[in-house]
Amino acid sequence: MMDKTITFHDHNPRIESLQEAVIKGLSKEFKSIAPKYFYDERGSQLFAEICEQPEYYPPYIERTILSGSVDEILYLTGTERITFEPGAGEATKIRLLLDALKPSAYLPMDISCEYLKQAAAEIVDEFPWLPVHAVCVDFTHSIPIPNTAPEGNRLAFFPGSSIGNFTPNEALNFLSMVRSTIGQGGMLLIGVDTKKEPAILHAAYNDAAGVTAKFNLNLIHRIRNETGVDCDPENFEHQAFYNADLGRVEMHLISRCEQTLHLNGHRFQLHEGETLHTENSYKYSPDEFIRLAERAGLQPIRHWLDDEKLFAVYLLQA
Ligand SMILES: C[S@@+](CC[C@H](N)C(=O)[O-])C[C@H]1O[C@@H](n2cnc3c(N)ncnc32)[C@H](O)[C@@H]1O
Repeated sequence: MMDKTITFHDHNPRIESLQEAVIKGLSKEFKSIAPKYFYDERGSQLFAEICEQPEYYPPYIERTILSGSVDEILYLTGTERITFEPGAGEATKIRLLLDALKPSAYLPMDISCEYLKQAAAEIVDEFPWLPVHAVCVDFTHSIPIPNTAPEGNRLAFFPGSSIGNFTPNEALNFLSMVRSTIGQGGMLLIGVDTKKEPAILHAAYNDAAGVTAKFNLNLIHRIRNETGVDCDPENFEHQAFYNADLGRVEMHLISRCEQTLHLNGHRFQLHEGETLHTENSYKYSPDEFIRLAERAGLQPIRHWLDDEKLFAVYLLQA
């Protein structure tokens, strides 16, 4: 019987509260709120459900690419790297790599703390030889790695095309932060959605079962329950479309009627048809993404695409 190692570190990602984000976001001329606020426990569950929808192709294709490339990845990275995963969620994809890459430790990181704890506990049950240190953190603020973890021997894993939720400038800053976290010789394995036929993207973000719509609308439930804003989810509608000029899928919540919301003495007027912008998902061709990575000081080692070029996985080195 092996000793299991699991620790939990709370970096209190709630510092920038939902209430502050709502006041800031609703005060803007074009109302918006960052996608990280989707992820309370219910939001994380709904995201896991989205990943099972037939139209939402990225998880299936990314898993297929990872499983098919694991030997090559192993050859290029070697074993026993300290491996950390910002925004790990259910930590499903790392499972495809653990037996081969044999990290010396795995650090899943997420803003959704309860969900993270469950995911970490399941990983430790499945891989009892692996020390797991779960870190509850907002990865836009920091990526805390213990100083004792040797630089150059670190591997960052960032699947799910979460990089697409940043604007290209924010993505550059995030990649630069990852670069300085992994240190010279450190590596990043990252999944990035490609540019493609808009109809495929439209279907992916408007699944027939309406799960993405529920995920988007859960933000209104969350705002109502956690901040006391008098918003009614029935008064909002999910919208997602591909903005070809900016190369991104946009998600919005559209106000179905003229409405006034109140929070701590603030009044917010929403006109019928006005939108609350909740998420961007930028798509990158391999050339575009490699240029971005290089600007952040990350050199491309190899990348893999599926036959239809719907999704890409890149191995980069600092
Ligand atoms: C799109 S999901 C991807 C999950 C997983 N990496 C995958 O590929 O299936 C994004 C994950 O990142 C987490 N997340 C989003 N914004 C975050 C932030 N700023 N800091 C930490 N975690 C964040 C969410 O809670 C969620 O688990």
